[in-house]
Amino acid sequence: MKTVQKEHPRLRWVTLNSSEVIVNTGVDIIEGLNQTPKTLPCRYFYDDRGSELFEQVCDLPEYYPTRTEQTILEAYAQDIAQLTAWCELVELGSGSSRKTRLLLDAYSQLDDHLHYYPIDVSEAILKTTAISLLRQYPMLRLWGLAGTYEQALTQLSHTGLERRMLIFLGSTLGNLDEGECDRFLDLIQQTLQPGEFLLLGIDLQKSIDLLEAAYNDAQGVTAAFNLNILNHLNHQFEGNFDLNQFTHLAFYNSVDHQIEMHLRSLKAQTAILQGLEYQVEFQAGETIRTEISRKFHLSSLTATLEQHALSPLHIWTDPQAWFALLLCQRQCTAHDCP
Ligand code: AVJ
Repeated sequence: MKTVQKEHPRLRWVTLNSSEVIVNTGVDIIEGLNQTPKTLPCRYFYDDRGSELFEQVCDLPEYYPTRTEQTILEAYAQDIAQLTAWCELVELGSGSSRKTRLLLDAYSQLDDHLHYYPIDVSEAILKTTAISLLRQYPMLRLWGLAGTYEQALTQLSHTGLERRMLIFLGSTLGNLDEGECDRFLDLIQQTLQPGEFLLLGIDLQKSIDLLEAAYNDAQGVTAAFNLNILNHLNHQFEGNFDLNQFTHLAFYNSVDHQIEMHLRSLKAQTAILQGLEYQVEFQAGETIRTEISRKFHLSSLTATLEQHALSPLHIWTDPQAWFALLLCQRQCTAHDCP
């Protein structure tokens, strides 16, 4: 891992080693749009504008996950810090680090050292957040990494210290289908040393009405967030998607226990992505699935975690059991501890 100093004495940017930089060729976009039904990888939501819109989504009255997870963290951040004792905090998809501040508060009461590695695909939000955190926490040392989770986990397989907690909040795990989730947990299993921790925020199954309202807010912020993915593609890959000719669609799929967000083409149309030398055709009414957001059942989730040598030590929920926070510990396997 190479680091460069910039902007602030307690701030480092972790740069990707050139051999490990994965150039974004956009093949994943072409693969998705060539599928039937069409899909797009949901990480393309998060350009700078998309990250801003997501922050607005978190404040919506209908969008219960952020608020609920926040109340759980408010109640238990101190317990979490006591259970793990001092450790380096590594966060996937840190965004504005809003909820993480509750953990930073708790950990700063344990020790006068605080080490935080925020990771996000949006460099702009990472920078703004880093500066604000360093101002708020005088004992904080921060290593920022702009990249995908896969890039980051590979980079962070050795931070030097072997006491870390990987933080993955907001139920972002739910954006991965079963196969992707298994590969992702494999990578976490490989990255964490036995004894290290994973703090996981998970959205639970609940009434369809509550779920669907959370993704169809009255103000239309979620719709703007969904449509912005096309705007991002237009900018990054010289596209000509007409945002007025697609509409937002979100519903609960109760067979797969997931919210699905789609963009529906209002007419038969063709879009071109010059940068990818790619053209895509839509029939009137055809949709692109832009996101799945799985809603979990605790017992099957904990079984999956155990299969990846991640044992839940504690599970906290809100009184209505809408959301859960799981503190998991990486276990020794026959392979680690012969
Ligand atoms: C932050 C990815 C978990 O799936 O609920 C919010 C993203 N999409 N509204 C989620 C999202 C629509 C969110 N995650």
